[in-house]
Amino acid sequence: MPVLVAPELPAGRLARLAQPTLAAASPAGPVTVRPWAAADARAVLDAYADPAIQQWHVRSMTPDEADAWVAHWPGRWADETGAGWAVEVDGAVAGQVSLRRLRLAEAWAEISYWVLPHARGRGIAPAALDAVTGWLMAEVGVLRASLAHSTRNPASCRVATKAGYLPEGTLRRQARHADGWHDMHVHARLAEPEPEPGPGPGPEADGA
Ligand SMILES: CC(C)(COP(=O)(O)OP(=O)(O)OC[C@H]1O[C@@H](n2cnc3c(N)ncnc32)[C@H](O)[C@@H]1OP(=O)(O)O)[C@@H](O)C(=O)NCCC(=O)NCCS
Repeated sequence: MPVLVAPELPAGRLARLAQPTLAAASPAGPVTVRPWAAADARAVLDAYADPAIQQWHVRSMTPDEADAWVAHWPGRWADETGAGWAVEVDGAVAGQVSLRRLRLAEAWAEISYWVLPHARGRGIAPAALDAVTGWLMAEVGVLRASLAHSTRNPASCRVATKAGYLPEGTLRRQARHADGWHDMHVHARLAEPEPEPGPGPGPEADGA
């Protein structure tokens, strides 16, 4: 049945664009955020052998599955349901950022990221997240980008905060991981500037 609200962004807004390569600066030096290539499957396999990535991304990753995972992103771009980028530092894959969900009609996206163990603690995830978010808002017109991390994953909370994703609240018992249910902390960044915290209404503002 037809919806009664016009789409905020038309179908085709993403698919008509070529997936970009983005440059970012991190404390680790330059970061390149680029589309996946078939040769990256090995790095994806290595990533999912890490217990922390397994814990938070809850996905099996055999060699065949890594090939398929890398190969599936162009289809997600073409049907405008998501997008994935490799994050490269010093000429090697150090992590990933992806749009795990995208809804053009409502101009929102949900973002996910991981960084390989050897590259952590150098500000790579916040730099890559900021670059993808900035592009998404400036070039695609997305108005709201959000992410959710387990309340037991403080490192991810820091990434979100450093990339300008403000905390919004906690969804209780929302995600099921291998060790059971987790409460998820939601953060979001809006395209328009966030309002400055004001002094609050004074006597004139409320008409007194
Ligand atoms: C969360 C994650 C993406 C952070 O990426 P990163 O590039 O290391 O991000 P940062 O360098 O900004 O570090 C973020 C926080 O990680 C912690 N950290 C610092 N050094 C670290 C290290 N060597 N190893 C692990 N965590 C470290 C710190 O709390 C840091 O916050 P701080 O800068 O305020 O001290 C990465 O740790 C990761 O991939 N973890 C496993 C998967 C995961 O959690 N994905 C997100 C699911 S929502």
